Amino acid sequence: MGSIETSLQENRVFEPAEDFVKQARVSGIAGYEALRAEAEADFEGFWGRLAKENLSWKTPFTKVLDESNAPFYKWFEDGVMNVSYNCLDVNLQNGNADKVAIIFEADGGEVTKVTYRELHARVCQFANGLKSLGYAKGERALIYLPMSIEAVVAMQACARLGIIHSVVFGGFSAKSVQERIADAGASVVITADEQVRGGKNIPLKPAIDEAFAIGGCESVRNVIIYQRTGGNIPFVEGRDLWLKDVIANQPTECEPEWLSAEHPLFILFTSGSTGKPKGVQHSTGGYLLWAKLSLLWTFDLKPNDVFWCTADVGWVTGHTYIAYGPLACGATEVVFEGVPTYPDAGRFWKMIQDHKVSIFYTAPTAIRSLIKAGGDLPTKYDLSSLRLLGSVGEPINPEAWVWYYNVVGGARCPIVDTWWQTETGGHMITPLPGVHGLKPGSCTQPLPGIAAAIVDETGTDVAKGNGGFLVIKKPWPSMIRTIWNDPERFKKSYYPADFGGKYYLAGDGANVDLDGYFWIMGRIDDVLNVSGHRMGTMEIESALVANPLVAEAAVVGRPDDLTGEAICAFVVLKQAAPQGAEAQAIAKELRDWVGREIGPIAKPKDIRFGDNLPKTRSGKIMRRLLRSIAKGEEITQDTSTLENPAILDQLKTSR
Ligand code: WT7
Repeated sequence: MGSIETSLQENRVFEPAEDFVKQARVSGIAGYEALRAEAEADFEGFWGRLAKENLSWKTPFTKVLDESNAPFYKWFEDGVMNVSYNCLDVNLQNGNADKVAIIFEADGGEVTKVTYRELHARVCQFANGLKSLGYAKGERALIYLPMSIEAVVAMQACARLGIIHSVVFGGFSAKSVQERIADAGASVVITADEQVRGGKNIPLKPAIDEAFAIGGCESVRNVIIYQRTGGNIPFVEGRDLWLKDVIANQPTECEPEWLSAEHPLFILFTSGSTGKPKGVQHSTGGYLLWAKLSLLWTFDLKPNDVFWCTADVGWVTGHTYIAYGPLACGATEVVFEGVPTYPDAGRFWKMIQDHKVSIFYTAPTAIRSLIKAGGDLPTKYDLSSLRLLGSVGEPINPEAWVWYYNVVGGARCPIVDTWWQTETGGHMITPLPGVHGLKPGSCTQPLPGIAAAIVDETGTDVAKGNGGFLVIKKPWPSMIRTIWNDPERFKKSYYPADFGGKYYLAGDGANVDLDGYFWIMGRIDDVLNVSGHRMGTMEIESALVANPLVAEAAVVGRPDDLTGEAICAFVVLKQAAPQGAEAQAIAKELRDWVGREIGPIAKPKDIRFGDNLPKTRSGKIMRRLLRSIAKGEEITQDTSTLENPAILDQLKTSR
């Protein structure tokens, strides 16, 4: 995937500073090894201890792990608790009532601060509003909101009532929203009139109406609308409600619904290797345990920290490290509505300065684009509040790592390169900042209790210095419980028979070096990583072939300096392959089409037309050839099995 080649350019190991090690929650190799040894010696005892110490239980669990129906593992199942209670009420009892929970900065720069007491009251009002409309435990809410305090409140209010939320990123299209409403069987939709990004108002609510027009949304009884801008949007009497009316006069106390630790907390759709996105289902107790603990360990979170995760709540990073983890820790966190480049590329650095952010967590793609937009801009701001930096979503190339370390972190802050997935719920392989020497581009070692390993096709461990498939050999509390409505697909995707059905198969290829450090090589399936967003090639292909002009399409990724991977589509039209201006016009039409079918993030960067695709005699598309063409490489692979070799030249030259 390119990242490993370039990683060889930086061979230094950045050891943690002594004073950081001294104050760290997990301190030194000895601290790390002690936790690992505890998990090794008594796996259930280890997790049981952590769950008792870190979560507040209404009724304590008597059994830690139930493996009787593996791989449908159950954690702390007879324990009774509530996530929202753990995030809010616990802080009111802990002396954090007047502590700022959220510092919200709007796109235009307005700042709103909310204390734990205020957040608790708002969540209770929202929950009471939902209750008064008749919504109850086990129902599903589809949340389609911009980055806002309201988004966190809506998620927490659902959690308070045991309503299972499914947040859909605001960049997804009406069609995507419709599919997710139908698959989740949502009974309520929570949205906003518009979102504000980069100084522009972008309508959001009309996508919900469009989703209804497509059909299959009959399960929805109400659409609740948060008025972010007061913009003029359609309102359907009898179905639509303004959020302000739903919460008006609602009491600021709401008894939480007491739930089994295995009650589903949320569903989050993500791309897989088939056309249909999968609804990853997460739990209550195990999920929250790891959300909290990974913040304490990986980010060494302390009471005085100001934590800022720049992700959107529409992704898992925004669930675990914005909506739940920081609140479960009683932290002060920044929530940002806007984009890193508005009003200019100094926005992140100005916000770190203004809010005295001490822990900053962002994605390599953002780092790369900010280097490009102004590599010395951070030096114009006072970033001395920072003590720790994080990276997530894709491998970070050493050049970006070293810039992040030196220019943003002042060569003072450890960088935690956190490997994990929507399915894992929280960090899995990551440096601990008071433990690991850092190698740029490596996510270093598994967290204590996480049995990560690299195996070959037979499921046997590879020797250090080798590559293979990344697996997790034992269950962990925040793991995916199932794919919503599709347990068979869950088993097939993550516990395939090829590996004996025993290990969780992550879908990434990885190397382990002689020091036992992990290096992620990229996906082994037909999933692309574009700007840290996961996109299924089949999903984009299905969108393309749904266009009346298109006969056939194949989508592959190619390396991109800015976005990590870029989407490249090879398209066969029902008409002869177009050229010149016509090709450009059709390419634009298809790009917009994919934007409407899935969302703008799925628009192919490159579209090439041909009269056919390279196929074997049995009709199989030879994707490896397409990958070479997309990269602009000379084709050195064997093409003797190709039915139609002449097509390669056409695809190489067409644009
Ligand atoms: C895929 C998961 C993790 C939350 C956001 C993305 C890639 C993620 C890293 C990292 C190398 C990474 C993997 C993984 N990935 N973090 N630190 N280094 N690769 O969640 O959308 O579920 O994507 O992102 O390929 O499988 P996701």
